[in-house]
Amino acid sequence: GAPVQADISKLEPGQRMTVEWRGRPIWIINRTPEMIERTEALGADSLADPESEVPQQPAYIQGGLRSIKPEIGVLIGICTHLGCSPLYRPEPDAEGVGVDNWPGGFFCPCHGSRFDLAGRVFSNVPAPTNLEVPPYRFESDDIIVVG
Ligand code: FES
Repeated sequence: GAPVQADISKLEPGQRMTVEWRGRPIWIINRTPEMIERTEALGADSLADPESEVPQQPAYIQGGLRSIKPEIGVLIGICTHLGCSPLYRPEPDAEGVGVDNWPGGFFCPCHGSRFDLAGRVFSNVPAPTNLEVPPYRFESDDIIVVG
């Protein structure tokens, strides 16, 4: 499949947009400083693979936020359990996700898997691995090329 371009110039802090690449939804989220703080506060007591030791991302994606720029997250929007599309629940303590002190992230309604705002999977959910990060690069501040 050909690479796809995403224009993020209208993506407000806290928002998510979706583009399609190879028939799959690619989520791009613009994390606020506060969302980054909440994500970085999570560790091995909450997450199954906080350092992404199971490769679910290109080698050049490093660190807990799993992105090139801290604020911009790029993820394949397909649950690593059985392929449902998780819901974006960026607000802390959201209704319906079933955990106390929910820090915001993605919630899969099919069997209850939860992922943080970096796509890292929580412990004790059906999904075995973090969400995948696709290959991508910044062509400019506003244009991301996925693929
Ligand atoms: Fe997402 Fe099963 S498909 S939890």
